[in-house]
Amino acid sequence: MRIHLPAEQIPTAWFNALPAMPVEMAPPLHPGTREPIGPDDLAPLFPMGLIAQEVSTEPWIEIPGEVLDILRLWRPTPLVRAERLERALGTPARIYFKDESVSPAGSHKPNTAVPQAFYNKAEGINRLTTETGAGQWGTALSFACTQYDMDVKVYMVRASYEQKPYRKILMETWGGEVVPSPVDDPGHPGSLGLAISDAVRDAVSRDDTHYALGSVLNHVLLHQTVIGLEAQEQLALAGERTPDVVVGCCGGGSNLGGIALPFMPDPSVRLVAAEPASCPTLTQGKFDYDFGDTAGMTPLMQMYTLGREFVPPSIHAGGLRYHGDSPIISALVHCGRMEAVAYPQGKTFEAAVQFANAEGKLPAPEAGHVIRAVIDEALAAKELGEERVILFSYCGHGFLDLAAYDDYLNGRLVDA
Ligand SMILES: Cc1ncc(COP(=O)(O)O)c(C=O)c1O
Repeated sequence: MRIHLPAEQIPTAWFNALPAMPVEMAPPLHPGTREPIGPDDLAPLFPMGLIAQEVSTEPWIEIPGEVLDILRLWRPTPLVRAERLERALGTPARIYFKDESVSPAGSHKPNTAVPQAFYNKAEGINRLTTETGAGQWGTALSFACTQYDMDVKVYMVRASYEQKPYRKILMETWGGEVVPSPVDDPGHPGSLGLAISDAVRDAVSRDDTHYALGSVLNHVLLHQTVIGLEAQEQLALAGERTPDVVVGCCGGGSNLGGIALPFMPDPSVRLVAAEPASCPTLTQGKFDYDFGDTAGMTPLMQMYTLGREFVPPSIHAGGLRYHGDSPIISALVHCGRMEAVAYPQGKTFEAAVQFANAEGKLPAPEAGHVIRAVIDEALAAKELGEERVILFSYCGHGFLDLAAYDDYLNGRLVDA
């Protein structure tokens, strides 16, 4: 069962979680003075349009028409009821997923790449820098920049740059310049924290350049709320009142925030984050101020963190290998509004393959984490004889991650 929202019902405003948060958020701190930062401190990196969104207390923020025109290339995305998976599990639960894999880049990331490029272009910026792990975010930003005729330089974690050439080719096809990171240490496999340092260093060194981040920050989660807002309309079309539980995988928190935040004000809806056991930020990290990058150049944010020098093992879900997490998601977990679970990667591939066989879709390794959590929720519902309604974010396809499936299917996967 696929539920399509008519094109004219695409959301025209983003849902801002900040005024709806059940707890007060601690302010970001300047990396030098450790005092709360102001808009001017962020101006070398971001346009004022995004800085304003980062701190806005307006409950809704209008989506510019020029952004909607590009989002319409693939939005609204389908909501799919995973009936064949339900049957395979023998569960009374009803499982729905929001299919973000239909975007040009194959994941949810273009939902924020497009508005980020738009607000930069609107303020006269013609070049962006960014980091990318496995390549999903760099791909999305390259797509967005080519829409606005902007240059983009992507610092790609060296291990991925060397092992995963296809995402690099996609970025280059869309006009992106891709270099391995860390730039100054060719023997180092790299990490997201180091690549952020490289991208920020580049951006602050040139007047024509800003930096773009694909997750973590408030404005990124804001842009992703189109996922949850569309899902609310589609669940109503499917005759469902409200989900019992909303689940997303969590790297920096953007697809999880996108699907879960519009449901946050309803206390009857459980919110669940799924993360890797080898990078267990929410389940084992410290709730504290930390830098977003390894070199300590970014503002400090209050979040769950494994420490900025933590280098996670190179699991296949590259998008989930980050030492920190979104301050919004961290605050929700810390106050008990959101639950978090962690899985070793073998369990996530087992779930991904089960999903691929039941539904026919091949998940990105990141999506394997949310599917693991969803299957466990559905089996718990079966155990209890409960008609649980489960909604999850199918955050990306795995067509460029086939080497990971090859490792899993041939017993070479390290079960970190
Ligand atoms: C397909 C996919 N899912 C999930 C993530 C995790 O990021 P986030 O937690 O910001 O959604 C990534 C990050 O690159 C990704 O590429």
